[in-house]
Amino acid sequence: MPPGERSKSLARARSLYAAFAEAGVDRWTPVVILGGGVTGDLGAFAAATFLRGVPVVQVPTTVVAQVDSSVGGKTAVNFASAKNLIGTFHQPDLVLADPELLVTLSPRDFRSGMAEVVKIAVTLRPDLMERLEGDLAAVSRRDPALMTAAVRACVEAKAEVVGRDERDRDVRGILNYGHTLGHALEAASGGKIRHGEAVAMGMNGAAWLGESLGVTEPGFRDRQNRLLTGLGLKLTAPDADKRVVVRNLKLDKKVRNRKNRFVLTLQVGGASVWPHVPARLVREAVRLVTS
Ligand SMILES: NC(=O)c1ccc[n+]([C@@H]2O[C@H](COP(=O)([O-])OP(=O)(O)OC[C@H]3O[C@@H](n4cnc5c(N)ncnc54)[C@H](O)[C@@H]3O)[C@@H](O)[C@H]2O)c1
Ligand SMILES: [Zn+2]
Repeated sequence: MPPGERSKSLARARSLYAAFAEAGVDRWTPVVILGGGVTGDLGAFAAATFLRGVPVVQVPTTVVAQVDSSVGGKTAVNFASAKNLIGTFHQPDLVLADPELLVTLSPRDFRSGMAEVVKIAVTLRPDLMERLEGDLAAVSRRDPALMTAAVRACVEAKAEVVGRDERDRDVRGILNYGHTLGHALEAASGGKIRHGEAVAMGMNGAAWLGESLGVTEPGFRDRQNRLLTGLGLKLTAPDADKRVVVRNLKLDKKVRNRKNRFVLTLQVGGASVWPHVPARLVREAVRLVTS
């Protein structure tokens, strides 16, 4: 199928159903999904709904897919220009991640995926943070030993959180660190900013909010941002329209009673969902990440 978010559609799912039916897939036939997060979300959605669910084997081939989307059981297609509007929870039976597959990724896809690695490191894995900080050169040459360690740490951390809250009612929300402002910026850019690039900017904003509220340990933001820039990620999107970003924030999935909730870190390796962030500070954070 053609690469890109547009392939994550009900029309594509329908053509997979037709192929499954044609191939005689039964309830014991595993569907093996080889590709990035787009392929993974779509393939797993089709497998989760065909015959009320057939087994799934994920073979993720991008950084995002290896460290994030192939684990945790969220499946989705986009609908009416909204991302991931339709989906199920359906855990894979097996995930096979080979970090050597990452060497062919474009520099931009690789970098963008690394933002999600930093997300896991700063919220859940101080050891991974130190490892990345200690050997940025190995990251940039996509050293298989280092990438294996990074993928392993991220999968362990994510699986542990998902094991406590599969349906995303509370603690799984931590995995959304950087994503509140990130999604708002990503949508405002009309496809110009990649997901991971936007998440890096969102983490910058969230760390600023956390430090301003006295929740996040002073110095955290500097340390996080040094790692992000070391990986070649930008911290702000000067071209983004502030008003559109503010409008997009209202559509965040974590909004409850019309209030934005933010994931804030306490220190490296500790985070929680914060319900009380004053609107004035949120506007300042938007100004910061669009400056
Ligand atoms: N289910 C979840 O929990 C979850 C979590 C995070 C992201 N996602 C979803 O994942 C999607 C993004 O995934 P992505 O970042 O992997 O993007 P993607 O699947 O679009 O892949 C990015 C690009 O890399 C190419 N590619 C894939 N593997 C390659 C390889 N080994 N070498 C060279 N090129 C390769 C693809 O063809 C594509 O052009 C989004 O739709 C997002 O919503 C889902
Ligand atoms: Zn993400």
